Amino acid sequence: MGERSVRDAGTLLAQARRIVVFTGAGVSAESGVPTFRDALTGLWRSFDAQRLATPEAFREDPALVWGWYEWRRATVARARPNAGHVAVAAIEARVAHAVVVTQNVDDLHERAGSVAPIHLHGSLSAPRCSACARPAPVPDGVPDEPGDGRRAAPPRCAHCAGLVRPGVVWFGEALPTAALEAAVQAASACDLLLTVGTSGLVYPAAEIPRVAARFAATVVQVNPEETALDAVADVNLRGPAAQVLPALVRAAWGDAGPA
Ligand code: OAD
Repeated sequence: MGERSVRDAGTLLAQARRIVVFTGAGVSAESGVPTFRDALTGLWRSFDAQRLATPEAFREDPALVWGWYEWRRATVARARPNAGHVAVAAIEARVAHAVVVTQNVDDLHERAGSVAPIHLHGSLSAPRCSACARPAPVPDGVPDEPGDGRRAAPPRCAHCAGLVRPGVVWFGEALPTAALEAAVQAASACDLLLTVGTSGLVYPAAEIPRVAARFAATVVQVNPEETALDAVADVNLRGPAAQVLPALVRAAWGDAGPA
């Protein structure tokens, strides 16, 4: 990342009155949570999404699917927010109208201090009944190093005895309506959208930065690699989130950081 481009982007950030921060798996990569599509480490390079992240997969083999999400929940529970998450919370603290929209199912934004991030793809900590849709408790503790292929029988719903499923959005499922509407609304009303650590390939979430651009917002992207959003972004900052985001916050508001 060039110093000049971070400085310029910092100026844009400081001038913006309404900001949306749109994040994907890359913002949690430096916390040790794997992304989905990175060449060597992405989850979808070593796991078959069709066998793990679809309603059909859960119907066919609930223990395989539940066990895999419990492994992911354990990974997240052992992870800590990184400097990128902290910088996002700093932006929120500084800007009166800042909305965090994440595709991530981890809770690292919340643990870094973000107040109410919009989770477009659900959450690992919001299981619900697959039959009656009532919320179910998060199982006590996290599995001990459950291993990435270990099966685990899902709990039963206390109301209808249906199988409890992870509270995440699977392929072929609709996004939570209220979350999607709030994200579109924020994107269409912002004057700067900061997209961080997403390949921008999964729709409808990937529409969010495009909506902002259509409504004439400035789009700033932070990503070490080229992405499908390069063409949408006015400024591309190439680098890891945990380095670039703190530098951006310093460029916007000085070393003292947010007020
Ligand atoms: P992807 O795995 O598709 O993309 C991760 C992005 O993060 C890539 O563009 C990487 O270059 C970038 N990246 C890697 N390390 C980074 C770092 N340290 N700092 C910043 N960026 C970094 O993940 P998403 O775009 O989040 O959906 O994927 C979107 C959706 O696809 C996910 O929410 C998930 C998945 O299937 C569901 O589960 C519904």
